[in-house]
Parts: sequence; C-alpha cells; structure tokens
Amino acid sequence: MVSRMNSNNKTPAMDIDDIPVNPSANPWLSEVVANRRTLLKGSLGLALGGFLGGSLSACATGDKKTSLPFPVKTTAPKIGFSSVAIQTTKDFDRVVVADGYSARAFFSWGDEVVTGAAPWKADASNSWQEQQLQAGQNHDGMAYFPFADAPNDHGLLVINHEYTNPTLHPNGPTETRDAKGIIHRPEHEVLKEQAAHGVSVIEIKRDQHGQWQRVKGSTLNRRLTANTPMALSGPVAGSEHVKTAQDPTGTRVLGTLNNCSMGKTPWGTYLICEENWNNYFVNRNTADWQQRVSHKRYGISNGANSSKYYWETVDPRFDATPTDKQYFKGFVNEPNRFGWVVEFDPFDPQSLPKKRTALGRYARECATVVIGDNGEVAIYSGDDTRGEYIYKFVAQQRFDKANPKAKLDLLDEGILYVTQFHADGSGEWLPLVWGERGLTPRNGFMNQADVLINARAAADILGATPMDRPEWVAVDPHSRELYVTLTNNIERGIKLDQPVDSANSRKENHHGQILRWSEKDSNPAATEFKWEIFLLAGNHPNTSIPEHLQGNIHGDVFSCPDGLWFDADGRLWIETDFDDEVDVYQAMGCNQLLCANPLTREVKRFLVGPRGCEITGLTGTPDGKSLWLNIQHPGISYPASDGKTRPRSTTVLVTKNDGGVIGT
Ligand code: FEO
Ligand code: CA
Ligand code: CA
Repeated sequence: MVSRMNSNNKTPAMDIDDIPVNPSANPWLSEVVANRRTLLKGSLGLALGGFLGGSLSACATGDKKTSLPFPVKTTAPKIGFSSVAIQTTKDFDRVVVADGYSARAFFSWGDEVVTGAAPWKADASNSWQEQQLQAGQNHDGMAYFPFADAPNDHGLLVINHEYTNPTLHPNGPTETRDAKGIIHRPEHEVLKEQAAHGVSVIEIKRDQHGQWQRVKGSTLNRRLTANTPMALSGPVAGSEHVKTAQDPTGTRVLGTLNNCSMGKTPWGTYLICEENWNNYFVNRNTADWQQRVSHKRYGISNGANSSKYYWETVDPRFDATPTDKQYFKGFVNEPNRFGWVVEFDPFDPQSLPKKRTALGRYARECATVVIGDNGEVAIYSGDDTRGEYIYKFVAQQRFDKANPKAKLDLLDEGILYVTQFHADGSGEWLPLVWGERGLTPRNGFMNQADVLINARAAADILGATPMDRPEWVAVDPHSRELYVTLTNNIERGIKLDQPVDSANSRKENHHGQILRWSEKDSNPAATEFKWEIFLLAGNHPNTSIPEHLQGNIHGDVFSCPDGLWFDADGRLWIETDFDDEVDVYQAMGCNQLLCANPLTREVKRFLVGPRGCEITGLTGTPDGKSLWLNIQHPGISYPASDGKTRPRSTTVLVTKNDGGVIGT
C-alpha cells in the first residue's frame, strides 16, 4: 500500500509501510558472523569470508544490464482493446475503462456481508459491532472460487481488507496524548478498526438477466477480522517463541493483520498474506528491543507507541514490551504470531484458518502457487520493504490432481528458499534450513522455528539479493515463467547496503521494474533459474528527463507496478500503486490497470481509477468474461462520485459489452 493520509485524512504523510529496516549489522548475528550487508560495507567480512563461500561474489556487482539471454517460451495472447488515456485532472473521481467494456462498483466498504448486518452509514457512525458484519476497508488481494456446477455464473469472492483509513470514524481517529507522550485511543474506535481488517467472503451469482448479484443471506458469507480465532500450525506452532500470557500453548492466535495480496491453491483454499504487521506493535524496552532480532529486524516500534493505530493502549496484545508480571513475559511474543500465510477453506464457514509457519515470517505480499508436472508445489512471495528479498516455499509432499483434497496440511512441511540473482542472468534458490549454511546455534538459530520466525536474518546470512520492494508474483499459464513486480526503491544506490546491481539496475528507483525468470526444467522445485528484466517502468526516454526516471516501456507508460496477474490466455495484467500527488508521477496521471504481451512486451492501458486510489486485487471467472479488481483508498468520493460522499474502497466488476473475453 501507499498510505497517503495522516490521521486527519487530509495531509499527505510519509509512506510508513515501506521504511527499510534491513540493518547493516544485526547485533544478534554480528558477534559471530558478518551478514551480507556488513560484507558489502567492508567490515568484519574479510576474516569470515570463507564461511559464505561462493555467494559473496554473486550479486555485489554494479552491472547495469537490463536484458539478458532468457529462453522465453510463452505464446502471444490477443490484446484487442484500444488504450485508455491517462487522467491528469485533480478532481478525476471515477473509473474509466477501454471502449467496449463496462466497469461498475460491486462491493464497497460497509456493504452488508454476514446476515443481520446493518446498512452502511455515510457519516461513518456504524458501531464496531456493525462493522464486524460489514465489508472492511482497503480491499486488496482477492480470488474467485467457482461452484463446480456453474463455474462462470456462480462463485465465492474472497477479498482481503488490508488496513483502515481515518474515514472509518465520523471525524477521524480520536487520539489523546498523556504526560509521558503516549497516545491513547478510545476502545470502541480500536474495536471498529480491528473489525474493518481481515477478509470478506461473499457468495455471488448471475441473475436471470446475466447480471452478477451478491447472494445476501447466504450462509457462506463470512467475515474474518483482527479478532477471529485462528490456529498456528507447522514448525513454529507450540514453540517457546509464540507462547503468550493469553495463549500458553502457542497454538491459538486471534486474527490476521494487514492482509495484502493472496494465493489460491488447487485444493480449494485461499491464502491470506500478512504484510505490514510490524506497524501494529510496540516494545518500549530499548535494551530488549535492541537484542530481540524478531522485533528489531522487522521494524517494530521502540517508541512511545506502535507506528500506526496505537491499539496497544486498550488491547494489551499489541504491547510487546516484556513484563515479569505475566507468564511468558506478557505479549513479547505476540508479534511472532503475525507475518505468516493464513490458509482457510472459503466453502466451509466454520473452518478454522491456519497460519502456516513453514512458509516463513516477513512482510508477506503474496503467496503465488505453482504446481509442477509431477505435482511439485511451490509458493512464491515478495517481502515488500526496501532492500528485502524474494522467497519460495517448496512443499515436501506433492499435490495429487486426481485426489486434490488428500493432503490438506501439505503446507506444514517443506523448505523455504530465498533468491540470489547473479549478473550473468542466472540465479539460485538458497535453502533456509536450520543447521546448514550458518543457520546454526553459533549464529543464534537453535532450531527451524528460529529460522522461520527470523527469515530475514537467516536470508541475510545466506547472502540473498536485496530487492527494490518485491510485491506480486505471477505465473505464465503457458510457459510457467514467473514475473515479479519490484515497485520502487528510492534508496537504491543511495544506501550502502543496497548497491545498484543487475536486477535492481537504477539508482534512486522511483518507477520500479518487472523481472521474469524461468526455473530450471520449468520445475517449481528447482534451485536454479534464468532471469531477465522484463521491463523498466517510467517515462519514455526523453532528453529533458533524468536518466534514472526513464523506462523502456513499449507502449503506454506507467509507474510503480504492484499487482500482477496472468489470465488463462496469457495476458499479463499490471496494477499500479504510486502517489498521484507527487511530481515525479505526474506523467502517469491516476493509478491504472494495464495489459502486457509477454512475448512482444507491448503494454496497453486498460483502465484508470479515481484520484488518490491504488489499483489492486484481480481475479476472474474461468471463461475470462468477468473480471473483478479493487479500487483501494480512493481520495475524493468514489464510488458515489458526487464530490461529497465519504470515499470507499470498492471491488469493481468489469465485463465486455458484447459478452466476450476481457482483453480480446
Ligand atoms: Fe500491501 Fe506491498 O502492498
Ligand atoms: Ca504498493
Ligand atoms: Ca501491494
């Protein structure tokens, strides 16, 4: 997300979720071994260089190549629409889509979800109890789950609600500062914010006129919030690091937070991702925070309050300051219970969501599932913070297409890997396995739970390549080639621990790039790959524009690629998330959805959203004729678009007027 509003919802605020926290030297580890950042800075490393072996030389080059030999195997999809123009007016407050298509608001913040929900009140006076049954705010990742008997006419739409805006309350959040400088919040506001987080499941169906409608009163309609009971499963469950005063077993958690993008499995489950969960916690004990890697390395606040919302003043779970007055030091371990992938079955409204700890803990953007020829299961994901890494999890067991529900706990066992990009267009996946490659007691890792909870610190030791904020990963259905958005990184080449390299090739990268890679033998379980930069976003080359702001897009320009999705025909859809008030993005207008041809690399703009929004979440019916996307945090009054109604994050339905496949 790009959070643009401060607490009064008027003034642009800094992009708090993207502040880098990757340290140059990690105290927990640096006493014994230099991590990659330290080595890049030239301290400690020489004495210990032998330990990291070959990984040292791999990606610390200043190579600026942007295109490398890459065996593209895909086929060209038909992209038949005419481009939409950029929208530059300051009061642009609607959605415009390519000629021949329609886009209509389908599901907005405050809409009824669970039976008995109250209608949305335009003055935001709905209570927290009412909010629990209504759509949350900031719709993000989303997936359509078809019913088998009418897959293109009847399904469930599952939608993440990433965070909350000041618009949630009639006059914005109430904040009172005490003599110690701690900001306090009223409990009813905190509870409403917690209720507006999480996930909505809504049943949807085409009516007799072929129009999609929501099935109100469906027993499948469901809300998950920041207080819904969930299980911890996998290697971290039950470990000392996840026990709290409220959960001495270390197996039960309340809720999920900052649900950004997602994944969808072929065994019928939805994967919720927990992204910027660090912003919800505070540890006020500086000495403890300094040495606690699971807090410091993830950017948990060590100030008077958490970085956002300040829930800790009424909900002790979010105060992670250690205390001797409670078992398990109170809630010092509560942050270790977030940052995971949460799996649940949307067709079972009673199902207990499970946090799958084998997949590792970081600011998890997405969980893109790829199945190999022999049932190998890989899940790809970015850690969206400046200078963080790209990971994949490979399950130990295989998926059996003939019996898809046979192994429902398949995500509890497997190996987590992190990427290292080499300047010659090759790359490797480095395993985060306890006892190997320095992930040992000598470096503070006592078991695999330590490695998974501190995945970033483990990846530092392995020499992973620090990236320009990895967001979504998409897989080409024809070739199984993978694409990742690197949305931007203004500190690239500025901070010593993030030098310009071949995969992150522009200093002070405002516009971002899309990389693609191909696993060896197209096997998602492979540990080697070939990669290249698919395109550099930014302005068309022009002598009046500084070089680092120029991209190489063939077609329509855009910036800050974020959401990324392939449809069944192999069209690559790109969603953007830039701050449309900032000068450097003025050539792009408002945020947009574009379509790229993976073979020719031509890009066409398909849809533009209202000012202030980002475009995110993308899913469709199997026949490609119905598409849903999310307008997150619109700035003026969308979807009412009357210039005065409170703006609402909204799921938008796109159809082709002739009933055809979207994009053709
Ligand atoms: Fe929630 Fe990185 O976007
Ligand atoms: Ca983003
Ligand atoms: Ca995103």
